[in-house]
Amino acid sequence: MEGLKHFPEPLRESARLVAKSRDSRLAALRRGESYPPLSLSDRRAWLEEFHPDYRADSCRPLTIGPNKGDLVPCELADLLESWPRHAVARHFALSRRSPVGADSPYHAFTQAAKPAKADLVTDVLVIGGGGAGTTAAIAAAEAGANVLIVTKLRHGDSNTIMAEGGMQVADQEADSPVQHYLDTMGGGHFINDPDLVETLVSEGPRVLRWLEEMGVLFDKYPTGRMKVRHGGGTSRRRLHASGDVTGLELMRVLRDHAESYPNIKVLNFHPAVELLTDDHGRAAGAVLEHLVTGERLPTIQVVHARAVILATGGFGRLHFKKFPTSNHYGAMADGLALAYRAGVPLRDLRYCQYHPTGIVYPDRKIGLLLTEKFRGWGAQLLNYHGEEFVFGLEPRDVTSAAIIRECTEMGNGVTTPSGRAGVWLDIPLIDLLHGRGTIEREFPGRFREFMGKGIDLRLAPVLTFPTLHYQNGGIAIQSDGGTDMPGLYAAGEVTGGVHGDNRLMGNALLEILVFGLRAGGSAARFAQSTGPGSNPGVLHLEGFMEALQGSGVAHHRTSPRLLPSYGKSGLPA
Ligand code: FUM
Repeated sequence: MEGLKHFPEPLRESARLVAKSRDSRLAALRRGESYPPLSLSDRRAWLEEFHPDYRADSCRPLTIGPNKGDLVPCELADLLESWPRHAVARHFALSRRSPVGADSPYHAFTQAAKPAKADLVTDVLVIGGGGAGTTAAIAAAEAGANVLIVTKLRHGDSNTIMAEGGMQVADQEADSPVQHYLDTMGGGHFINDPDLVETLVSEGPRVLRWLEEMGVLFDKYPTGRMKVRHGGGTSRRRLHASGDVTGLELMRVLRDHAESYPNIKVLNFHPAVELLTDDHGRAAGAVLEHLVTGERLPTIQVVHARAVILATGGFGRLHFKKFPTSNHYGAMADGLALAYRAGVPLRDLRYCQYHPTGIVYPDRKIGLLLTEKFRGWGAQLLNYHGEEFVFGLEPRDVTSAAIIRECTEMGNGVTTPSGRAGVWLDIPLIDLLHGRGTIEREFPGRFREFMGKGIDLRLAPVLTFPTLHYQNGGIAIQSDGGTDMPGLYAAGEVTGGVHGDNRLMGNALLEILVFGLRAGGSAARFAQSTGPGSNPGVLHLEGFMEALQGSGVAHHRTSPRLLPSYGKSGLPA
């Protein structure tokens, strides 16, 4: 059989079974037959038994801070309950009280710090240079504020550019924001914040027009009508895409647009490692490290700002339960750590999102995404024998649970030479269903990338398994992007409330735009209505460090960690 040579045995043997069953599956689809969706009770049962986050040992309660008692993934709990980075402790000369360890900078303290002198001053400080941060910066600049974007890597390097399949917007006649609202609430198991969801869905059409006016190239028919597809868990076709590189296309336009504002400045390679607060508990700036000084201790920079926007993205690179991830290299939950130790509440962090179709083979692509759009175009999920075992467009958490069940309890997974299990995504079916050329046209990014490695997606299925994809919850916000701390705003994946326990595909790109615009506008207005912070510093750390000390948290545990550290296994050492 053509196109399967790159597979070692027994992958090739199983891929042949997939190719063999293709004609009869195609005939069934043409008769309008598809695998039946699960009943609500089966969905629940499969989630509870097979979804990684429903396992009792996957999480623990937080012992300190504003969410004390809440269950979150163990790795995240450790990150939140961490000491400030050593460079911060040294810079602020955090002083000492009762010695408990020989060489820790924290072995005691009596006061958190003196006020921090400014190296840089701005109206609005945006922490994070991905889609949410850049959108927020544009909105704040448009409202007349001077804006500084500080970003850990380069402007644009973020989860936004990894987003493949599209953005949900209810702009078609057969659809409405109400339908979009119901789908989003259902997908999130109804724990989403209704106000945030209403804002998300009702501002979608306006945001789509804004993007088009700026020059984002969405897929269209020759008539100019938008092409829309189904995402998992949705009742209508409302995914708007740019091939399978939608996030990259959005970021291209947003970054170009931001660069055209004289009142937006960008500082690359400067992650924020602490927030500054003032005497009144208001956000007043941030402490930055320089990632590339080449010196033993990073260089600290202090920024004073009248308003601060956190847009640091998600946490996939923490690799919970050693799962691979689809996330960008910088996705390390920095913003959650900063906000939490400043006393800002978080929400909905018990369940993460595992995208059902992370690549399992070839090894060098482990964890990277095969967009849900493949399933939207008809690619089926198949077990070792080339048989379907789940309706492909269940909500993501359910599909992931079904794949794990098939590979474990059912024993029908395919095992790679490096010992990973997976199921097939039968991509070649797409050209058979929709005509030759569809795969190349609709999935140009992955098509070319695989072709470059000698793998033809028109002929070969790809082995997949759930990959850690998205932080469903985060910093609690209101619909203007504000948090519980005056002057602190947040937007994008770092926030919680929009998606409940499980985000639907395509709602992340919409969220970064809707709430980026809102947070940016609100922060600019706040900055214009207030004076500079009085005595900006890190005084808020004092209470948090007392609590850490009381909980016996080891002094070597510091955060934010900024970048993952990989051992031989490819997962964090
Ligand atoms: O499957 C995807 O393309 C992922 C999109 C998303 O998470 O929204």
